[in-house]
Amino acid sequence: MHTDTIVVTGGAGFIGSNFVNAWVKLKLGKLVNLDKLTYAGNMENLAEISHDPDHVFIHADIGDRAAVKTLLETHKPRAVLNFAAESHVDRSIHGPDAFIQTNVVGTFNLLEEVRAYWQALPVESQQSFRFLHVSTDEVYGSLEPNDPAFKETNPYQPNSPYSASKAASDHLVRAYHHTYGLPTLTTNCSNNYGPYHFPEKLIPLVIHNALSGKPLPIYGNGSNIRDWLYVEDHCNAIREVLAKGLPGETYNIGGWNEKTNLDVVHTLCDILDQEQPKAQGSYRDQITFVKDRPGHDLRYAIDASKIEQTLGWKPQETFETGIRKTVRWYLEHTQWVERVTSGEYQHWLSTNYHERGEELA
Ligand code: NAD
Ligand code: TYD
Repeated sequence: MHTDTIVVTGGAGFIGSNFVNAWVKLKLGKLVNLDKLTYAGNMENLAEISHDPDHVFIHADIGDRAAVKTLLETHKPRAVLNFAAESHVDRSIHGPDAFIQTNVVGTFNLLEEVRAYWQALPVESQQSFRFLHVSTDEVYGSLEPNDPAFKETNPYQPNSPYSASKAASDHLVRAYHHTYGLPTLTTNCSNNYGPYHFPEKLIPLVIHNALSGKPLPIYGNGSNIRDWLYVEDHCNAIREVLAKGLPGETYNIGGWNEKTNLDVVHTLCDILDQEQPKAQGSYRDQITFVKDRPGHDLRYAIDASKIEQTLGWKPQETFETGIRKTVRWYLEHTQWVERVTSGEYQHWLSTNYHERGEELA
């Protein structure tokens, strides 16, 4: 086993590409990146490391057992980190099939191949091997305004096809540890934001629409609460869990940054008003309240005490510093936004927003 090689799945997506870029730039060893390149996966996210010999890209599905088997036998990794997923709640409402296929069946197939590879390793390598599964706080369901934040011991109560499919995958990972002894780690993180975030999610969509002079659609009355973490902090946390986490454990990751959606959108408008003022008026003038998401979870909040106390991880960015960095990144990367929003993206806008009374496409 090459002790410095890791496999990352979904490394061309938002969080995966941030993780892969940081890993390769920090020279932490060889990284094999397996990605299906769905609408959310973009090779341009990896442009900065495209010539680095420590990064090997493989275009495949996590559910393609032959491809995964060959990859594991060829590269002999010391760890597999599973970021690959269908990740957008609204898409899961319109078309849950892909979520079951990738998040549940795909993770199962990946686990089976990893188990076979791991069981054939010498005992010492078996002990140091890790399967790290990247999951979400959405598996815990929705909180009422005065409920305490999610702890690792909260029961799973997923409410959307997305969160239900992630919950199913978390349970499979748990079972592979309990039944077969596979040394697994699971992370449940809150909402991320930062560079390379696909503009179907709230923060990049609002930045993109603001700059394009389009409506800024807020579902319902904007009082839903999310707990925001800068993506680089999430990636740092994953590296800590990989290095120091205990097999079989789960770790909640979050930055204690609860905000209503309306607060987030106001903050984005105010930063844009400073960084790139409009000829007249404020970006806030573009805010539009639209039909709510079915089954819209009211509030997510992460209690990050466990990872802070047992692994010593803490976020580096506050919401204020992280969100300004993010807006600046989008202002400096308009070509990236243009390229990822061509093609399939337009179809998605008309599917999702037409029914909410907006024509964004
Ligand atoms: P994303 O949608 O931006 O990227 C997903 C990546 O996985 C893409 O590159 C896509 O091509 C790839 N992929 C999809 N199906 C695949 C398959 N069958 N085989 C191989 N590759 C496939 O998602 P993201 O926001 O980067 O999320 C990454 C992980 O983190 C997901 O597991 C998600 O559930 C979890 N997560 C996301 C957030 C968030 O705020 N975005 C928060 C907590 C946890
Ligand atoms: P999103 O970024 O899709 O993440 P998630 O649903 O996984 O939390 O949405 C974040 C919040 O913003 C959520 O409460 C839904 C809301 N939202 C809007 O109000 N308008 C939008 O156009 C989008 C995409 C989301």
